Amino acid sequence: MDILEAIMTRRSIRKYTGESIKEEDLKTILKAGFQAPSAHNYQPREYVVVRDKDIIEKISEFHKYAKMLPKAGCGIIVCGDKTKQPEIGFLVEDCSASIQNMLLAAHGLGLGAVWCGLYSVEELTEPMTDVLELPEHIIPIGMVVVGVKDEGKRTIDRYDESKVHFDKW
Ligand SMILES: Cc1cc2nc3c(=O)[nH]c(=O)nc-3n(C[C@H](O)[C@H](O)[C@H](O)COP(=O)(O)O)c2cc1C
Repeated sequence: MDILEAIMTRRSIRKYTGESIKEEDLKTILKAGFQAPSAHNYQPREYVVVRDKDIIEKISEFHKYAKMLPKAGCGIIVCGDKTKQPEIGFLVEDCSASIQNMLLAAHGLGLGAVWCGLYSVEELTEPMTDVLELPEHIIPIGMVVVGVKDEGKRTIDRYDESKVHFDKW
């Protein structure tokens, strides 16, 4: 898929068939995540791929907006390493750029995906830290839920000329 077509047609997918995604597709999605830009090129990101049914179940119990995770069958939790990037704003942005790359890669592969937010909601980051047994310096920023999609969504044109400012506000 052409890059602009991927950007323009990507949508959040929340209905899945229950089939597993291929290992090679997972690897491609992860590689796309690693390619994202990061402040100072510190690349302060770590990725936890969850496919174990019990772990998935625990996550979907505490994350009320990630109820699609069990059927999707795969979640990629993108975490920030505070020791590599102490500036929390940059850490979140670095992880977010990576998440968006992975959403686009999944879409380009014909898979469905959705970004499930974690940081900075303590009721989400704390149980996620516990379930994944993350060390103290690793912060879960967001989760990419990915799977074989069972819904199609129409493209929405969100361009709004009134929000574009040239040279000055
Ligand atoms: C920071 C962030 C957190 C999000 N968290 C969730 C979530 O927890 N569950 C969910 O189903 N969608 C979540 N979304 C997806 C948004 O709901 C979705 O991107 C938005 O409604 C626009 O729809 P689209 O992705 O289909 O274009 C999140 C998106 C972002 C950027």
